[in-house]
Amino acid sequence: MELKSLPEHELARLREKAKEIVGNQEDYGEVYSGLLTRRLNHEPLQYIEEYIPFYSIQINVDSRALIPRPETEYLVELIKERSSNPQKIIDVGTGSGCIALMLKKLFPDAAVDAIDISDEALSLANENSLVNNLEINLYQSDLLENVTSTDFDVIVANLPYIPTSTLSSLDKEVIEFEPLLALDGGTDGMLYINKLITQIEDKNFENTTLFLEVDESHAHHIVSRLSTWSEVKLVKDLVERDRYIIAKK
Ligand SMILES: C[S@@+](CC[C@H](N)C(=O)[O-])C[C@H]1O[C@@H](n2cnc3c(N)ncnc32)[C@H](O)[C@@H]1O
Repeated sequence: MELKSLPEHELARLREKAKEIVGNQEDYGEVYSGLLTRRLNHEPLQYIEEYIPFYSIQINVDSRALIPRPETEYLVELIKERSSNPQKIIDVGTGSGCIALMLKKLFPDAAVDAIDISDEALSLANENSLVNNLEINLYQSDLLENVTSTDFDVIVANLPYIPTSTLSSLDKEVIEFEPLLALDGGTDGMLYINKLITQIEDKNFENTTLFLEVDESHAHHIVSRLSTWSEVKLVKDLVERDRYIIAKK
């Protein structure tokens, strides 16, 4: 990437970050140039800035987990609007912990479990739990394999959904820096979502509402997969793409 391809708002953010690191407004030139080099090597701005706002909390971000996307803030909003006083929530594939932590803030009386297959992601989520002073129950699990309870009011998941064959066409910012475990959704991109639905069915979960963030091209297929569930709804994001599925079991 060339310097002239970086928009001024990114340069301004890198300058502010350099000032934050050195702790003053003047002698930040050397640090700024180091940050600039990282950005020119395609490192995502958010990893360089080290934290992002998510809904109404702050989330530390680094290469241990996916950078939370704005669409996921809307997933949290959907859960807030459509759940009344949930007592038990589980976030499957928690990554940085953004969904689980924000739900704990919105529903302080709820017990929130947050699981991930990646120990690295779990360590970042734990840091975010401490930074935000929000207590959640973090543990390692391949989808619901290590989950013993079946009485969650809410199951939420934003699982990897990019088909393996298209990973190489992703921007360098994504494929070279964000964890592959957070991106690769198997041959058709729906490997983990389908497995999760099957596990919920096999474990006989009851009185549960499932909230999924999905790729728009998979939405109708997943809705068909949920044909034996009730109140299955497809919800569009703010730019009219089919990005969320809500279903009751
Ligand atoms: C798309 S990222 C989403 C992270 C976070 N929930 C968010 O919305 O920003 C998917 C997450 O699922 C995790 N994951 C992938 N395969 C998994 C599996 N088999 N079991 C549990 N978690 C898994 C990844 O490690 C990653 O943290």
